[in-house]
Amino acid sequence: MSVVLNNIFSRRSFRSYKEEPITEAELEAIIEAGKFAPSAMNQQPWHFTVIQNQAILHKINDTLKNMFLKSNNPKMVERASSEDFSPFYHAPTLIIVSGDTKAVAPEADCSLALGNMFLAAESLDIGSCWINSLRSLGNTKEGAALIKELDIPEDYIIFGSGAFGYKGTDHPEAPTRREGTVTYIE
Ligand SMILES: Cc1cc2nc3c(=O)[nH]c(=O)nc-3n(C[C@H](O)[C@H](O)[C@H](O)COP(=O)(O)O)c2cc1C
Repeated sequence: MSVVLNNIFSRRSFRSYKEEPITEAELEAIIEAGKFAPSAMNQQPWHFTVIQNQAILHKINDTLKNMFLKSNNPKMVERASSEDFSPFYHAPTLIIVSGDTKAVAPEADCSLALGNMFLAAESLDIGSCWINSLRSLGNTKEGAALIKELDIPEDYIIFGSGAFGYKGTDHPEAPTRREGTVTYIE
């Protein structure tokens, strides 16, 4: 099998990470892979916010915790009540991908960038996982203030984020793929 296909099939979403941050060279390679994703009309309407500062990571965690606790969703409230609450699984690196709302297809572009970054990480034996909850940050006053503090460009919204770090103790199996999702027109 080709190296690329092998990498695609091997990548998994990791939910535990070592504390040690990835190297600067690894981080730059992952970001570069994100920037090399295709984008509608080549607008490249993304912005990458890389967070490795522990105090800021804690602040994001606390903001998400408050957001979950105030939600009407009993499952989210239960999750946020845990002492160990960390929607990004204590990963040492969190990369937020925001996109320009004025672009043609910013959500698709940002998602492709994240996909590239996950595959780049796997090729370096670095674990990763899409973290969705940051998309809701803008819905609360506290979250909106945090977005400002993180310097996310004006008119950009968060389309996704990725946790990155050396693989921890979990060994995720590839979930089986749904059948019947392909139609061949002959
Ligand atoms: C749009 C999107 C949102 C996701 N959000 C989360 C999330 O918030 N937390 C999480 O642990 N995994 C999240 N995932 C990871 C999926 O659960 C994971 O990709 C899926 O279970 C398949 O597993 P695999 O990535 O190992 O193939 C998300 C994936 C996508 C594409």
